[in-house]
Amino acid sequence: MNRLEGKVAVISGGARGQGRAHALRLAQEGADIVAFDVCEPFRTPRHTGATMEDLAETARLVEDLDRRCMIAQVDARDLGALTSLAEKTMAEFGRIDALIVNHGIWAVGPNSWELEEADWQESIDVMLTGAWKVTKAFIPAMLEAGNGGSIVLTSSAMGKHAQPGSIAYTAAKHGILGVMRTLAWELGPHSVRVNAIMPGSINTSMTQTGGTVEQSAEWYPRFFGTDRSLLPVGWMDPMVIANAAAFLVSDDAAFITGAALPVDAGWSAY
Ligand SMILES: NC(=O)c1ccc[n+]([C@@H]2O[C@H](COP(=O)([O-])OP(=O)(O)OC[C@H]3O[C@@H](n4cnc5c(N)ncnc54)[C@H](O)[C@@H]3O)[C@@H](O)[C@H]2O)c1
Repeated sequence: MNRLEGKVAVISGGARGQGRAHALRLAQEGADIVAFDVCEPFRTPRHTGATMEDLAETARLVEDLDRRCMIAQVDARDLGALTSLAEKTMAEFGRIDALIVNHGIWAVGPNSWELEEADWQESIDVMLTGAWKVTKAFIPAMLEAGNGGSIVLTSSAMGKHAQPGSIAYTAAKHGILGVMRTLAWELGPHSVRVNAIMPGSINTSMTQTGGTVEQSAEWYPRFFGTDRSLLPVGWMDPMVIANAAAFLVSDDAAFITGAALPVDAGWSAY
């Protein structure tokens, strides 16, 4: 399908995992891509950090699909760098139609009251404040281009449920839904739609490196020992999330805004 022919999509956390899947899926639909990523490890998470080689590989794969791909090493916590990237995107492409706020980290600890302040702050800065900063930097450019558009924020099944051992992640993912709904109100009159995806268990470096799942299962066997998925699918490929995002940014979702879409094999219905 070519639902995004002639359009430009910006993706945060585009080096690997779901971010790379978004880049490829939207490019398959005809979009040119701007993918940025911090490409550095973090203080708190056990999982590996992405690298510049990962981000360059995303660009190579998009270009194999005959689409343009601009990449940049930018931290979603750095408003100045984000604003510069928005300006550069407009200078290079002249428009921004889709913004996928996808970046994230997953840090865990046994109990919320034992968490160090810096650990709480890192997750909140990256995933909640960082999500707001990405929208703050790119929305003016979207409005300036005047083509309407679509923003998709990545929450989680933890945007609706608690995850013991991961209070900052849970709080940030709940908060993203507040950001999404507020922006949907404010941007509706500008024909910019704003929605969120709530992924379930996705097969990426976040979940498959560093032993976070295994450690959490030791601390909270009741939570992690139960497979709540209603479909027998196990860890899902990141492309299932990218398929949902491609739908949300396409005209097939022209009348959908302010929605939080679970893509979790039924996990959150449990
Ligand atoms: N994997 C899962 O099971 C799962 C489930 C629910 C939600 N999510 C969410 O999906 C999103 C994508 O995660 P993933 O599974 O692809 O993990 P991932 O670790 O493979 O990818 C996340 C990417 O975000 C980047 N990133 C992190 N902080 C950044 C920052 N401050 N600035 C720029 N880039 C930054 C990382 O470098 C990495 O490339 C995240 O928001 C995550 O919280 C993941």
